[in-house]
Formats: sequence, C-alpha cells, structure tokens
Amino acid sequence: MEEKILPRHIGIIMDGNGRWAKKRHLPRTAGHIQGAKAFRKCLRHCADLGIECVTFYAFSTENWKRPKEEVDAIMKLFSDYLDEGLGMSEKDIRMKFIGDPEPLSDDLKNKMRGLEEKSSGNRGTICCIAVNYGGRDDIVRAVRKIAADGKIAESVTEQSITEKLDTSGLPDVDLIIRPSGEQRLSNFLIWQAAYAEYVFMDVLWPDFGEKELDLALEEYSRRNRRFGGI
Ligand code: IPE
Ligand code: IPE
Ligand code: MG
Repeated sequence: MEEKILPRHIGIIMDGNGRWAKKRHLPRTAGHIQGAKAFRKCLRHCADLGIECVTFYAFSTENWKRPKEEVDAIMKLFSDYLDEGLGMSEKDIRMKFIGDPEPLSDDLKNKMRGLEEKSSGNRGTICCIAVNYGGRDDIVRAVRKIAADGKIAESVTEQSITEKLDTSGLPDVDLIIRPSGEQRLSNFLIWQAAYAEYVFMDVLWPDFGEKELDLALEEYSRRNRRFGGI
C-alpha cells in the first residue's frame, strides 16, 4: 500500500457552532458545548494518527465583539476543559497555548500554565490551543520583543520573527482545515500558514469527526506543494 503523506502541523478553525445550534433551535451555547466534544474527538484522532502538531483556533482577538454571555460561556467551557486536562494524565499529548493571555482571568492563566507544565514531558502530539489569538497581534508582539532587544533594523529578519512568534519551535503550518463553509483565514496563523494547503469543508464544526479529518488528510496528500519551485 502506498504511504500517505501526512502534514507535520495542522491548523483547524473550529467554526460553525452557532449555525449548528440555530438549525436545532438551540441557544448558541449548545453549539459551543457540542463543538468542545468535537475538539476532544479530533485531538484524539490526530494523536492516534501520530500527527506531530495540531493547532485549534478556539477564540480570536475579534471574538470579544460577541455578547458578554456568549464570551463567558466559551471561557467557562475552556476552563472546564483545562480542569479535565489537569485531572487526567494523558500520557502522550503535550499542551501549549498561543495568543495573548493578558485579558484572560488569572484562574484561566494559572490553569493554562499548569497544564503546559504538567504535559511538558510528553512526547506525542503537540496540541496547541489558540485563545485570544490573532495572527496580526502575534506578529506585532513578536516584533515588539525584537525591538525591546535594541539594534532594531538589523535584527528584524524572517527567522527572528518566526522565533518570537507564539508558535516558536513548531514547524510551519502545512494544512489549514476550515469547516462551516466559510473560506477565509479570519486572522489565524497568517505568518505560519504562508505556504499551507487549505481544505474548506461544508460540515459544521460540531459534526466534524474522524471521517472528516481523514477526508481532509486524503485531500492534502493529493496536493502538489511547490514552495515557489517547479
Ligand atoms: C466557532 O463557531 C466558535 C468560535 C468562534 C468561538 P461560531 O460561534 O463562529 O459559529 P457560527 O460561525 O456563528 O456558526
Ligand atoms: C474564527 O471564526 C475564529 C474561531 C473559530 C475561533 P469566526 O466565526 O470568529 O470568524 P468570522 O467572523 O466568520 O470570520
Ligand atoms: Mg463563526
């Protein structure tokens, strides 16, 4: 059997929770609850497949525009997930959080740090969760770190920016998957996905499962990546 080419780093835009709930005449929060279940399933499948790294877009720097009740509900689900992670010993998965934690509650920040530390010795899939993440904000914060070192003009290089981004140390994104039918990046990993392949799918995120991930991986393995060469 032919060996399928797997991406080293997958980025997933978990979109469509609200529409999933609306279709069922449920509050949007119900969609987020179901979306959190899809996230757990998808992460497990990535780990079983031996994917090196997967980054999930959970909350963008623009999502603060939503009603406070919805934002609170999302943060509560996130907090529940962190409690679960802190209580369990997932032996293989290494957790990492990207985005600016500054506006998040101290409780969330502590739990995030706790889970990163607890899982830091794991050598399986790296699960990166993007919370209060914006690609532009990531680049601005990276360049500010470089500027703080002095000697600004010479020290701004593609390499130095890459090293100061939240994803420092992770490989570039090979594959971006966006369910829900929208075909845009919405400020996700804009630098890291410069040469990524994109797979847009019509399924809503709460309905996304193993089969959908396999389909996206199959599509990826058929792409011909040239990186500007021939
Ligand atoms: C994605 O689902 C979850 C977050 C952005 C936090 P949405 O809530 O954007 O769902 P739709 O796009 O309204 O259906
Ligand atoms: C992108 O989804 C952000 C996350 C999935 C966390 P949005 O629903 O916020 O994106 P837009 O508004 O449709 O571009
Ligand atoms: Mg959306």
